[in-house]
Amino acid sequence: MRILSAMQSTGELHIGNYLGALQQWIELQKQGECIFIIVDLHAITIDYDPKKMQKRIFDIALDYLAAGVDPRKSIIFIQSHIKEHAELAWLLSTITPIGELQRMTQFKEKSKQHEKNINAGLLSYPVLMAADILLYKTNIVPVGEDQSQHIELARTIAKKFNNKFGETFPLPKTYLSKSGARIKALCNPKKEMAKSLGSQNNIYLTDSPNKIREKIKKAVTDTEKEIKHDEKNKPAISNLLNIYHLFSNKEIKDIEKQYKGKGYGEFKKDLAEVIIKALKPFQEKRKKYEKNPKLVEQILIQGAKKAEKIAKQTMKQIKTKMGLI
Ligand code: TYM
Repeated sequence: MRILSAMQSTGELHIGNYLGALQQWIELQKQGECIFIIVDLHAITIDYDPKKMQKRIFDIALDYLAAGVDPRKSIIFIQSHIKEHAELAWLLSTITPIGELQRMTQFKEKSKQHEKNINAGLLSYPVLMAADILLYKTNIVPVGEDQSQHIELARTIAKKFNNKFGETFPLPKTYLSKSGARIKALCNPKKEMAKSLGSQNNIYLTDSPNKIREKIKKAVTDTEKEIKHDEKNKPAISNLLNIYHLFSNKEIKDIEKQYKGKGYGEFKKDLAEVIIKALKPFQEKRKKYEKNPKLVEQILIQGAKKAEKIAKQTMKQIKTKMGLI
């Protein structure tokens, strides 16, 4: 079974990225051959500072390794280092209807956020994502819920290719975390936690203990005092309960019992400590890798070598089927 996922080098990762995706990746390493990509070609579809890009790419590599992606078991590499990704994206774009791309939620949202830069790359973003997935004949894609629509499209493209040119790709399946697939923003539980919402809405994986305490203290809560999981009527506290549950491994019911009759203040204070404790090993491991950039570079080079072998094989098969060689 091949498992593949990726993150964009668009800035610091937050606990939504961690609970929705990274945590699953680590578990899935026990179940199959894993490929984890740093997708820099996706990251350049929004405005960015080229001078900062190399550090951003490096930071994501540190995050993967610190979270427990094991380079002896899994392949880690940078998307732009394997030219077959862009090449396959072009081939697949010729069988992708524009209408499918225009109805993608992320495209609509990003077009609003980046009004002055609605470029063709932003529209064809999911085709490049389908290329990432199909190039390695992926079976399982562990992501947060916001990416399910893109994976559905990758399935549609795979089906279309198979019908048109002959059976080539397995149909990739979305793999979602039970309660971490949609972590909400701290100050606006109607929205997903996202890099674009700014610092007060996110807890970054590298936030200091004091920063975490401060952000959780300021997180919005619901009107009634009760600490109860009820997504519909109490979205803010339900989100905080989910975060508590995912970082402590305690069942939500047990957490509710523990805080029965107690106020939000006490719950939030403990929640901050739960997050700090859970992130500590990550932060320590990250610092070690940060001090050893040569090692990280070697891991990425080795990863790209392994990925390239697979990518070249698939491309040869695809181009033959399409009548290009
Ligand atoms: P990106 O970089 O936006 O996000 C990385 C991962 O984090 C998940 N995520 C969340 N999960 C739960 N709650 C949240 N608030 C939250 N915010 C983000 C995302 O769902 C994602 O799994 N298009 C992808 C990158 C990509 C990719 C791929 C993924 C490119 N090629 C191939 C899988 C396979 C993206 O933008 O992720």
